[in-house]
Amino acid sequence: MFISLVNTKGGVGKSTLAVHVAAWLHDQGLRVTAVDADEQASLSTWLRVAAPEIPIVPLYTAAEILARAPELAAGCDVVVADGPAALGSEVAALISVSDLVVLPLLPSMLDVWASYRTARLIYKVQFHPKRAGLPRALVVLNRVQSRTRVARVAAAAIEKYGFPVCPVAIEARPAYAEAGARGTVVGRMGRGAALAAVEIGRLVEHILAQVPESAAAARVLAARRAAQVIASRTLPADVVAPLPVSQMIVPAPAPTAAPSVPAPV
Ligand SMILES: Nc1ncnc2c1ncn2[C@@H]1O[C@H](COP(=O)(O)OP(=O)(O)O)[C@@H](O)[C@H]1O
Ligand SMILES: [Mg+2]
Repeated sequence: MFISLVNTKGGVGKSTLAVHVAAWLHDQGLRVTAVDADEQASLSTWLRVAAPEIPIVPLYTAAEILARAPELAAGCDVVVADGPAALGSEVAALISVSDLVVLPLLPSMLDVWASYRTARLIYKVQFHPKRAGLPRALVVLNRVQSRTRVARVAAAAIEKYGFPVCPVAIEARPAYAEAGARGTVVGRMGRGAALAAVEIGRLVEHILAQVPESAAAARVLAARRAAQVIASRTLPADVVAPLPVSQMIVPAPAPTAAPSVPAPV
């Protein structure tokens, strides 16, 4: 299974989420390989310290990505790839070797517009006869201030991309930046980052559910369901109560309130 975090816009949380997704899956017992396709090497620098057991493979060119991806995916349960913040052939290559592209977006109209070209690139690959609709794509809202109107408007505009929007949004929380600074992940930061840890778990569950053909994904989801039955009886209420995204971004505003995004071609 090859999952990539892609958005040619910088600062949307690709590296933050890639590190957290990779570390979380590793902690669930999956064999994870991380691919760093961004020469800024944020993922490599962070993950090397946060989860040194996870192999990290730098692939900076389209040729390297196309050549190595199949072998990397075959050699582990899941590859998590962090994309660069530039619209080039590397991003196209990353999309074309992925089973699932996660598109992190900040919930502002500027970011929705800036990310439109990435969405179009995903569409182009999906429409290629050889990929026949793949990769799947999932929009993840990041740095959300819950219940704000701009988040709702942006979510409504994003729906016009035609990709599913993950019902778990990641809130703006200092814990994520702090995790980067401390070379760890929110799941290992104790009670102060407990809500972030819970939302990351829920996010990765939704990501895995997008790849139903993956036996590794099914295994983790089954184990999580079993664990949650126990956890729901034992965790304190404030730890298991992240805001449901249904309240955060849905319902969409009336059509007149939503700025229009050009239709993808
Ligand atoms: N949910 C969040 N809450 C608060 N800060 C965040 C969140 N996600 C990312 N950040 C911060 O935003 C900045 C950009 O994130 P990064 O993962 O480097 O984005 P990208 O890889 O897309 O360029 C970093 O400083 C990171 O700590
Ligand atoms: Mg990055």
